[in-house]
Order: sequence, then C-alpha cells, then structure tokens
Amino acid sequence: MQVEIGSNFWTYSLCEGRERKLWWESEEYSKIFLKSGRNAFKAICNYISADKRKVLFPAYHCGTESEPWYESDWEVEYYPIENNFTVDANKLKQCIIKAKPAVLVIQSYYGFDALNDECNALLQECRNKGIIIIEDITQSILSDIRHQAVDYYIASLRKFFAIPDGGVLISRQPIAIRKIAQGDNNIPLNAMQAYSLKREYFETKNKGIKEEFRAAYVVLNELISVNDNNYAMSDVSLKIWNSFDFTYIAQKRRENYRTLSEGLAKIDYLAITRTFDNDTTVPLFLPVLVKNNTLRQELQAFLAEKDIYCPIIWKKSPRIVDCPKETSAIYERILCFPIDQRYDKEDMLRIFNTVEKWNV
Ligand SMILES: Cc1ncc(COP(=O)(O)O)c(C=O)c1O
Repeated sequence: MQVEIGSNFWTYSLCEGRERKLWWESEEYSKIFLKSGRNAFKAICNYISADKRKVLFPAYHCGTESEPWYESDWEVEYYPIENNFTVDANKLKQCIIKAKPAVLVIQSYYGFDALNDECNALLQECRNKGIIIIEDITQSILSDIRHQAVDYYIASLRKFFAIPDGGVLISRQPIAIRKIAQGDNNIPLNAMQAYSLKREYFETKNKGIKEEFRAAYVVLNELISVNDNNYAMSDVSLKIWNSFDFTYIAQKRRENYRTLSEGLAKIDYLAITRTFDNDTTVPLFLPVLVKNNTLRQELQAFLAEKDIYCPIIWKKSPRIVDCPKETSAIYERILCFPIDQRYDKEDMLRIFNTVEKWNV
C-alpha cells in the first residue's frame, strides 16, 4: 500500500525493448516525436494552411491544447461536451454549420470513447467537405479506440506514465515539419532528479525532501511550458517510452477502476458517469461529478489531509466565454480519483473507506 495516493508520477516498471505496439506505432502511420502535447499542437496549427483560420474545439479540454492556436492567430470556437463526457452529434452539427471551421478538434475523455456512430458519420461528412480533423488521443492513448475520419492525431505522452517529456504528431501521409530544434537536456535531468527525490521522501518521510521535490517539479513544469519553437522529444524519454510494459499498466488501471467505482457508486453525492465491461478501455482516472462545487472543494481538501490527492482535470480556460451549460457542469463538479499502475486493491479500498468516513 502506498503512503500517498495521487500527484506526480515518480516510479515506473520498464520492460526491455517493448514488443507490444499501439495502433499508431505501425508503419501505416508517420509520427513526429516532439517535446510535449502543446508542442505538437503548435507544429500542426502552423503547418495547416487555410484561407479562414478558424478551429472548432470541444468546450471541455485542457487550455494548453487551444493556446497554440490563439498564439498563431487562429479564431477558436467551441462545441458542447455532455456531462457524461460524450459528444451530441446534433449539437456538433449545428456548431459546424454556424462556425464553418477549417479545422475540427475531437478527443475522448479519461480513456472512454466520446463519439458514437452518429458522430463518426458526421466526421466523415465533414472530412468529405474538406474540414481537417485532428484528434487529441492523450487520454485514450492506451484504449483501443480508433476514429478513422481523422487527418492528424496528437498526444501528450506524459499523462499515463513517468516520462520526462514527450508529445507526438501522427498522420497517414508523412508531413514536413521544418526546423525542429534539439530538446532541452535539462528536462530529463530535472525529471530524474525530481523522481529520485520523491523516492527518497517515501523512504525517509523527511519533510525537507518533500519541499525539494516539489520545487523540482515546479522547475520541470516551467521547462515543459516553453513553447516558442518546435522541439524534439528527448532521447531519454524515447528510450523510456519504448520500454513501458503497457499490458501491466492497462490491467492495473482496469482493476483499480473497477474496485474503486464499485465502492464510490454507493456514495450518494457522487455520480460515476462511465463504466466499462470490455478490454478495450484503459482509464486514465476515475472521474466523478460531485453534487456541487462547494462539496467538491471540501471533499478534495479532506482527502488531501489524508494524503489522497484528487486533481480537478481541468479548470476552465479563461478563454472560453459563454461555455455551454452542460459543459460548465463538468468544470464545476469534476473530481478525478487516481487509479493508476502505482496502486493496487488495498489503495483503492483506502480511498473508498476514507470517502465513506467523511461526514458531509
Ligand atoms: C488532453 C490533453 N492534450 C494535450 C495536453 C498538452 O500536453 P503537454 O502538457 O504535454 O503539453 C494536455 C495537457 O494537460 C491534455 O490534457
């Protein structure tokens, strides 16, 4: 059992020369490994030439995905995401008719498919009309979800694993992204230092070391945030990427999600919006909607006191004005429970027992 649950990754299980490939790692696709997800977005939004630079984004997304578009003078509009993390095809269609975008961005959430057959048919229609479709596969990178009517796929590689840096831009046809600068070696150096400080803290429980590793993560995030150029992913991270034991990671995440969701389903002020009975879904977190924002903050603080850290993914980007109400409900109520490969059944039961003891 882990003393602390949640927060940044610091440990990983590697296997020599990973054999299991993800679908986009086949020869059918061309890939460019860059420093981060936002760096991959920067590369593609500068690569696409369009008469009218307008992109339609899901209203529920991470601000770092849309920021490069604003910085490159694209106009950004948003379509609603339902509070079970799906897209309503009719609503999307209306937004497309109104906005007439050159580019449409789609994504799935927490490892669960957001798009039904109707949405897929709509994407195909859009593509036939010349709209460029980009899918951010960050949160579904280990799930076996494939949307065919897509021109480019993008992922940040840092959300499921302890990896210093990494993003990828994937396409069927090779694309020429010019001027990719060498990655900053300080990123892997800082990350490795942060991981080992965290390991030391767990062994010694020395609070001074805890402060040191927190400071190291702040520096690391600042280095990752630099997005003024296209930068290559570091060699260290590529090596780590090619050694992950995906089978173990996927299995652990599914087991943990099932254990915890079974428990949390009994808590009446929490709504679990997605469950799965297949082997194709690999969850990122267990996302729940808390009854309201105040309760969410209180629960999050209570859990943090018990060394259980549940992030809010994501806070609404200030760029989104007039957020659709169904999507606002997610931003106001979402709380994410860690279920990743660092933990096992005992940890999940500890989370549930702690929540159960909380007096609302
Ligand atoms: C879905 C998604 N895509 C892209 C990004 C940007 O990735 P990075 O942090 O590697 O720039 C994020 C960041 O949180 C994200 O959540």
